[in-house]
Amino acid sequence: MKGLILSGGAGTRLRPITHTSAKQLVPVANKPVLFYGLEAMQAAGITQVGIVVGETRAEIEAAVGDGGRFGLEVTYLPQEAPLGLAHAVLIAEEFLDDEPFVMYLGDNLLKEGIAPFVRAFEQSAPDALILLQKVNDPSSYGIAELDGARVKRLVEKPPEPRSDLALVGVYLFTPAVFASVKAIAPSPRGELEITDAIQHMIDRGLRVEPHTVTGWWKDTGKLEDMLEANRLILGTIERDLRGEATDCTLEGAVQIGAGSVLERCTVRGPVVIGERCRLSDTYVGPYTAISDGVVVEQAEIEHSIILENSRICRLGARMADSLIGRDCVIAHSDALPVAYRFMVGDSSQIGIL
Ligand code: DAU
Repeated sequence: MKGLILSGGAGTRLRPITHTSAKQLVPVANKPVLFYGLEAMQAAGITQVGIVVGETRAEIEAAVGDGGRFGLEVTYLPQEAPLGLAHAVLIAEEFLDDEPFVMYLGDNLLKEGIAPFVRAFEQSAPDALILLQKVNDPSSYGIAELDGARVKRLVEKPPEPRSDLALVGVYLFTPAVFASVKAIAPSPRGELEITDAIQHMIDRGLRVEPHTVTGWWKDTGKLEDMLEANRLILGTIERDLRGEATDCTLEGAVQIGAGSVLERCTVRGPVVIGERCRLSDTYVGPYTAISDGVVVEQAEIEHSIILENSRICRLGARMADSLIGRDCVIAHSDALPVAYRFMVGDSSQIGIL
């Protein structure tokens, strides 16, 4: 069995971060989302993985390389434009070479990984196996209507959903899927939808088996989901102190990377702080992930993700529920006139007191 990871697309819901960076490389608990997918492939015994890439190809390739450090052999499959998940399957046909495969959306995270589903697929040998989980906002997902254990109908992001069972971004297919991805037409949003291709398989009388995902699953395409994924992963970490902490209180599951220095701080886990960070006179609250090279002075931060080399100083109030990009500066200023001074990218959001 081969693996196909989709890491193209535009990432519009995570702007401005995705103006300059691939959404699949935004870190969750200081590790790019995409790496969780690669690790899940390896843990399921898959070695040959194709990664579908678009405009952000260079960045994805720089991060993943030849896949060797994940125990994988990675092949890059360039997609000329984000024309849909079924289009991504279409361009991967030669790489997949008549083998069954697991397709994994590069911005999805599953607690239990994919090994149990790969085993189920091998045991019951359907034409396709889909994963489902109940969601609160079904109109944001592909939705399945079941008739007992049979999949009756699949609809992509229905405005009036007839079920709350969402398609999780992991699918297992036999090569029978290719005839269906070739037969369907683009959806109203102009994409070749994998949801329509699977419906086409059902209509052809092929066996599409549904499996419910019981552990947590997150599509990290939006800020709230990214923060929740961060919370879920941080909830599983253990204490690991490599940096230096002087006059600090470190409570619970706190990780501090090598070369980081903390002075007069209170850190209440779960919290992960990367390498070469400098924190002083600061409170870091639960569910915060601070990437390498970040500086924080006289601030309070919780339930947030801060990317590499940003600086946060003397905020005057607690920062929460935030995603801060790379090389950002958020700092108190004594300059006159007394005023807020911003230089923010397109599609940014700032909540002030
Ligand atoms: O997360 C689960 C949902 O994923 C399913 O419930 C939906 O049925 C499915 O269509 C998909 O919906 P999204 O709107 O979340 O898909 P998104 O456009 O975010 O793309 C998912 C991943 O695939 C993402 O990592 C980008 C990549 N991609 C996307 C497109 C459209 C590609 O590599 N190429 C593409 O052409």
